[in-house]
Amino acid sequence: MTASAPLICPSILASDFAKLGAEVAAIEAAGADWVHVDVMDGHFVPNITIGPDVVKALRPHARIPFDVHLMIAPVDPFLEAFRAAGADYMSVHPESGPHLHRTLRRIRELGAKPGVVLNPATPVEIVHEVMEEVDLVLVMSVNPGFGGQSFISSQLRKIERIRRMLDQAGSKAVLQVDGGVNVDTAKRCVEAGATALVAGTAVFKGGPGVYADNIRALKGA
Ligand code: DX5
Ligand code: ZN
Repeated sequence: MTASAPLICPSILASDFAKLGAEVAAIEAAGADWVHVDVMDGHFVPNITIGPDVVKALRPHARIPFDVHLMIAPVDPFLEAFRAAGADYMSVHPESGPHLHRTLRRIRELGAKPGVVLNPATPVEIVHEVMEEVDLVLVMSVNPGFGGQSFISSQLRKIERIRRMLDQAGSKAVLQVDGGVNVDTAKRCVEAGATALVAGTAVFKGGPGVYADNIRALKGA
């Protein structure tokens, strides 16, 4: 089977924060499939980024789905606010609350698409337990917290294993990879079975004039 082009989800963490609205509009115009929003609390991960008010302010600047990656603990008290702000996908780490299954159900109840995120050291088996509850499985190929880190190659085996698990179960969930994705690692992720790629540095490097080229290069990888 030949793999089809992956969805490209630029992480606005690597964009110009002084021009966020224009950056979101620019990546949409450049062919991005989703807007990936990294939400960090300085507690679950060692960095602080943006909250629901910023997501709400950005939402009218693009029509493509907002893919909100929640790196906050506890996560449950904030689900409603991010959904109200316009999140279409909401992805959570199992370590960010005591009841992953309940959190995923709550996301669906709110009308968003639930995703589960696996850190480099999070075992793949957890995907089995929540397979029916998720529309997205996100494999972290860096430890979360910062953009611009190097891709951890051992995560390719994890992607392959999850690909098999999803196929065996007949799941149509998106298999997304996040961290250190560039033209070279993108190719390896797609070969391993990924269907969506998050990329910060690789999309935003060079400025708005080359976003379309950057996105095309990742899609073709
Ligand atoms: C890391 C974030 C990533 C990050 C990716 O915690 O989840 O989305 O912004 O950035 P790059 O593509 O630069 O590794
Ligand atoms: Zn992310």
